[in-house]
Amino acid sequence: MDHKHITDDPEIGNKAEAYEAFDDIPTNPNLEATIGDVINARYGRRDLLRGMLGVSAAASLFGSSALIAPHRALAAEARNSRYRFDELTPGNDQTHHIAAGYDAEVLLRWGDPITADAPEFDVMNQSAAAQLQQFGYNNDYVGFTPLNAQGTRGLLCVNHEYTNEEVMFPGLGRQDKQSFAGMTKELIDIEMAAHGGTVVEIARDAAGKWSLVRNSAYNRRITPLHTEMTIDGPAAGHKRMQTKTDATGKAVIGTLNNCAGGMTPWGTWLMAEENFHGYFWTDTRDSEGKADLSSHADAASKKRYGIPSGWYAWGQYYDRFNIDKDPNESNRFGWVVEVDPRMPNSKPVKHTALGRFRHEGCETTISTTGKLVVYMGDDNRFDYQYKYVSNGTVSRSGGANSKLLRDGTLYVARFDADGTVHWLPLVHGEGPLTAENGFASQADVLIDTRLAADALGATPMDRPEDAQPRGDGTAYIMLTNNSRRKTDQINAANPRAKNAFGHIIEIKEDAGDHAATSGSWSILVSCGDPNLAEVGAQWNPQTSESGWFASPDNCAFDAQGRLWIATDQGRKWGKTGKSDGLYALETEGGLRGHSKLFFRCPVGAELCGPYFTEDSETLFLAVQHPGTDGTKSLKGFARASTFEDPATRWPDFDPKMPPRPSVLVVTKTGGGKIAV
Ligand code: FEO
Ligand code: CA
Repeated sequence: MDHKHITDDPEIGNKAEAYEAFDDIPTNPNLEATIGDVINARYGRRDLLRGMLGVSAAASLFGSSALIAPHRALAAEARNSRYRFDELTPGNDQTHHIAAGYDAEVLLRWGDPITADAPEFDVMNQSAAAQLQQFGYNNDYVGFTPLNAQGTRGLLCVNHEYTNEEVMFPGLGRQDKQSFAGMTKELIDIEMAAHGGTVVEIARDAAGKWSLVRNSAYNRRITPLHTEMTIDGPAAGHKRMQTKTDATGKAVIGTLNNCAGGMTPWGTWLMAEENFHGYFWTDTRDSEGKADLSSHADAASKKRYGIPSGWYAWGQYYDRFNIDKDPNESNRFGWVVEVDPRMPNSKPVKHTALGRFRHEGCETTISTTGKLVVYMGDDNRFDYQYKYVSNGTVSRSGGANSKLLRDGTLYVARFDADGTVHWLPLVHGEGPLTAENGFASQADVLIDTRLAADALGATPMDRPEDAQPRGDGTAYIMLTNNSRRKTDQINAANPRAKNAFGHIIEIKEDAGDHAATSGSWSILVSCGDPNLAEVGAQWNPQTSESGWFASPDNCAFDAQGRLWIATDQGRKWGKTGKSDGLYALETEGGLRGHSKLFFRCPVGAELCGPYFTEDSETLFLAVQHPGTDGTKSLKGFARASTFEDPATRWPDFDPKMPPRPSVLVVTKTGGGKIAV
């Protein structure tokens, strides 16, 4: 995702009661079978993929020529890519584009009413009360969990990462560089209500068209304005988690900057809290105007997390977002939040066992022995890749599985030059994680996950975004870019100085077990224009001018176990001349590293989601912040967008409506599996 405010540089760090509560929630008997079906369908099927995509099976998939004479066979293979579609032409303009033979229709837009009694969207008369019943802003992660065996009804879970005031509200003009002119408390409440997440029931009709079930009892908004949450795990209740309004250290209002995420095997939704630091404010500044943390006992921790950053003016009206008035509130953000979409009255839970950092995503899988494994990136330059392994094993009992997110081990990755990845445990008392070094307990290790990972010697990465595990012990790690890496800072896993375009690392865990503490790694692709030698890009040589991309971000597998990559170049998309989009990326055989463009965004948007349904006949895409990023690079427009004068009015193209972040539904024209 993009990172707002502060600078023109899009990379800047610019973006026990609890369990009892869960255990007390009775599992809906009508849904129990569905939960088991979810586990079986999503993981059982993927287990079947184990080994299927390996070298031994490559011949059957690609023909023996792929193994025997890969170079001679490449041209034919490129025409016979496993992804059956004709790639799009890259470019940039005011609307979206999808490969021929596919439809991409708007399902939900910012402001769409999601409950039966919600008011219709009135962009000139917005209110927080209305927004709390309407689809939020800047849709990022999209997940889906079915409500029936056919998969024709289900719950869509969508993160709303952040807000772009300049195109949300009339009369503000540009709102960057910490200028909050015109941002009243009323507007701030609206933008708080536009953050967080949405759960809605959707249904597919006989003609294959998906639509919102507006009167569904499941539909709800989750926001930093109004949603009570509980905190669990080793840091819950710790004195550093206690605030002026919560002496228990176990109760918090809301979630912030929810970027990518994941669905658990038992059908709950994990919301990653990413750039939470940007919401915290201080009035205590030194003579140069920099934040003065000298009165804070945890100044080193706050500094390591970039707190305060003041991207939003919330701290001017809400004491909890002002570290001068409530110095511990920022310790209660930067976690992974679990939401049970089937229980609309359940309280979301922040799971501290999964660590505190700028969580980009939290995709899950199951180890060979049945443990839950979660892959998570910390999206910051020179920060780290993590994974979490539960102590217990996944069962068919829905609510009980949430305990797996309380009791387990968090690891951070060290990528060695010999191609080995070691997962280093963040466990209090082990190695340097002792009281003498500032970690008095496991709570300290988790609240200060970054400091603990520093102490363990983890490998500083080029901004780890989403990471996607596959059932065969493989995982793909998106490193989006890091143009600040200097030549003397390169390492084997991040080998390019000034890495403006990013790369993707493939991990093969030892013995195909995601719970393994070591594995091997390799770089799948180094992104950017392969025609420019100075870029240092590496693609399969059959990749076309349309196919190469920059800044991988969110990603997903389809039902065939094939990888798809969504990109986010931020304001620098003009460096490639390509709007962000969705790319199919081969990981196997002679076409490994071959990419094709399937969808591209309207100008100024990044692509999020993506999420395939179990039958692979539906793909959900989230078009985030249309008409905002890098619009100065749009020929014929070449200026910054405002509400009154946006670079696009996608998707409505109504002269009175600004651009609206929206979730799209992609289907094959006439039906069928996507790209098969
Ligand atoms: Fe919200 Fe790291 O993208
Ligand atoms: Ca992202």
